[in-house]
Amino acid sequence: MSKLRIMSVFGTRPEAIKMAPLVKELASRDGIESLCCVTAQHRQMLDSVLDVFALKPDWDLDIMTPRQTLSTITSKCLLGMDEAINVLKPDMILVHGDTSTTFAGALSAFYHQVPVGHVEAGLRTYDKYSPFPEEMNRKLVSAIAELHFCPTESNRENLIREGIDKGLFVTGNTVIDALKTTVRSDYAFSTELLNRLDYQRKKVCLVTCHRRENYGEPMKNIMLALRQIAEENRDVELVYPVHLSPVVRDAADQYLRGAPRVHLIDPLPADEMHNLMARCYLVLTDSGGLQEEAPALGKPVLVLRRETERPEAVAAGTVALAGVVQDDIVTMATRLLQDRNAYQKMARAVNPYGDGNACGRIADAILWHFGLGERPADYRT
Ligand code: UD1
Ligand code: UDP
Repeated sequence: MSKLRIMSVFGTRPEAIKMAPLVKELASRDGIESLCCVTAQHRQMLDSVLDVFALKPDWDLDIMTPRQTLSTITSKCLLGMDEAINVLKPDMILVHGDTSTTFAGALSAFYHQVPVGHVEAGLRTYDKYSPFPEEMNRKLVSAIAELHFCPTESNRENLIREGIDKGLFVTGNTVIDALKTTVRSDYAFSTELLNRLDYQRKKVCLVTCHRRENYGEPMKNIMLALRQIAEENRDVELVYPVHLSPVVRDAADQYLRGAPRVHLIDPLPADEMHNLMARCYLVLTDSGGLQEEAPALGKPVLVLRRETERPEAVAAGTVALAGVVQDDIVTMATRLLQDRNAYQKMARAVNPYGDGNACGRIADAILWHFGLGERPADYRT
């Protein structure tokens, strides 16, 4: 019997980190041929992940341009996907999360009448413009997908409330599967600065910030807050791997460069980043992925946004919303830096996002969908 051709489509750094273990899991299954199509919505940041996880795409649309617009990304992906689908002839297409690649990948699959599996399904803020455009991308993909791989039970409940009641699986988040392969207690950094930092005597704060809805005033407020935190706390070392988006790099240069104890560095390879997170004191971020990874590693997170689609770790008490107002961010960070009790309350390892076996459940669910295996049991926290 011929193998099922399952094509994973992704294009940005976070999708790649979260799809890499799945592409490999699918490849390990006898009944599946695991294909990989990258849009390269991110070029350098994607290639870095492909390197770390030793993945070789079967197809590369190579669409990235500097300061690309949402319309350019979507239209280039759609045009490129036509040929990829016609040549690779997948039986199912997997997309991940909520980027423009995700939306265009799902839409293209639909145009070719290829069923879609949505990995990391059911996250919602119910605010159309925040995160922008991700909230709408998720909803549109949910309308197209045949299979919905929800990281948590509450993600599944979101979809049920929207009338989506078939093809739902609670799997855990594949990012925890990825973390299991990258984090090691004896890890030696290849980034010189990370070897030099004194993780015992200094409070190393890991920062990332890149979201489109934070462009402009919110990003300025965030960066001025970070500057103030570093200036006011002599025991802090603030490490900020700056996203390659020119908008973000311009803001970091304008508001943070030259500040004491602030290290602006290039994006880190995923294994360096995960091991830095495992050793740092505190995470300040507007990233989605970091909100899932840091709790699993026992690191408190201040979210530099007004809302989050990941309420589970907030409920568990290890993630808090700091917002985008300078004073609020400074107040919350100062408390965690100076009040030992407040810090200890948040610094507990919790795993609401998975047990590291999400990819196995997703592969089982796909085989089940095609009548080739048992339905996997849902992941329970
Ligand atoms: C995208 C996703 C966002 C995700 C983020 C992860 C959309 C609309 N947004 O946002 O959901 O959280 O990725 O990081 O899909 N650039 C490079 N090299 C790279 C990557 C980016 O030079 O390797 C620069 C380019 O100038 C590019 C710009 O960054 O035009 C913005 O990239 P883009 O993918 O459009 O948006 P992100 O903000 O990265
Ligand atoms: N990450 C990385 N290097 C960096 C910054 C982030 O490898 O310099 C990883 C991070 O650990 C997480 C993912 O990239 O796995 C998150 O990506 P990003 O913040 O770009 O996007 P989001 O998750 O917000 O969509």
